[in-house]
Amino acid sequence: SATHRIAVLPGDGVGPEICDRAIDVLGKITELYGHSFEFTHADVGGIAYEKHGQHLPEATLELCRNSSAILFGCVGGPVDQQHVPKWKDAEKIALLGLRKAFNLAVNLRPAAVYPFLSNLSPLKDSIVNKGIDVVIVRELVSGIYFGDHSTAEDGKSAVDVMSYSWDEVVTPVRFAFESAMLRKKNLTVVDKANVLDTSRLWRKVALDLAKQYPEVTVNFMYIDNAVMQIIKDPSQFDVVVTGNMFGDILSDAASVLPGSLGLMPSASLSTVEGENTIHMYEPIHGTAPDIAGKNLVNPIAQILSAAMMLRYSYNLEAEARCIEKAVEKVLADGGRTGDLLGGVKGQSSMSCTEMSAAIIAAMEK
Ligand code: IPM
Ligand code: MN
Repeated sequence: SATHRIAVLPGDGVGPEICDRAIDVLGKITELYGHSFEFTHADVGGIAYEKHGQHLPEATLELCRNSSAILFGCVGGPVDQQHVPKWKDAEKIALLGLRKAFNLAVNLRPAAVYPFLSNLSPLKDSIVNKGIDVVIVRELVSGIYFGDHSTAEDGKSAVDVMSYSWDEVVTPVRFAFESAMLRKKNLTVVDKANVLDTSRLWRKVALDLAKQYPEVTVNFMYIDNAVMQIIKDPSQFDVVVTGNMFGDILSDAASVLPGSLGLMPSASLSTVEGENTIHMYEPIHGTAPDIAGKNLVNPIAQILSAAMMLRYSYNLEAEARCIEKAVEKVLADGGRTGDLLGGVKGQSSMSCTEMSAAIIAAMEK
């Protein structure tokens, strides 16, 4: 079969370590299933600024264009150094640039709590035990993030435009309906339709598409309430779909549910069809400069992102499940990196490489 060409953009902080571990896991997939992957690295973020004077160099974009998927680590610097040119707007330039360049319109952010890690969740047992398994589908290339932005010359007023077209809304909403069909057939559309015209458009699109998915139960919820509900009663959600900024806010709220960001993958899917489809995969977490280079970071978020890559870019469902099942097994058997100890004293923690080695050892066809 053909070689899958993967652009690896490790970025800053713990990015290189987690990308290396995901590549190790894909190596085991090659061993088990015989697929061939070719990995080519390029710079993005602060490291790219340092070496090439730009956070998202043209050579990096060119590599991505010549690949069939992007494995992205993370970018950005320490919070107290945001004014330094190397770090200033690094995340924004790199991420928004890649999203726009490859039309990554549909962002998937799953938030599930493994029953055997429920002690890590900040929520009460009585809430966690009802089961938490949500997928947030966020629109990623339009809305207020990509509307006109301007600040008056006197610096005393500013404008950000939020606009949506029917087509821009249909893409993520259709994807969300399709996802719901494969899950519990429950879709929540999150908006601010009591105030915003764009939200009323989202509702219209959702109601129109609902006719094609009569089996899916559709609920509408305002963003302020949704942020509250996802903490108070997350088991009510299955698939959630929403606009760019609301999705940013809601997915951060959801990311606290499992108790560690180190477990959470994501996929950003391109709407370009055919041979030029290039999706991007990255963990939810940031660069964690305090533990970078120390072999301490939890590689699971990136390893699960690689599993999403197999599923969405290469249609390799069994291979994706192989990785996911191995991660579950290692965690169920008590494998823990430092972020997963949850204050349990006396329990020893694994290094990043020990965790990936345990996952690889647990992978079976
Ligand atoms: C995210 C990030 C980005 C966003 C920032 C860094 C521009 O917060 O991926 O959620 O807001 O989309
Ligand atoms: Mn965010």
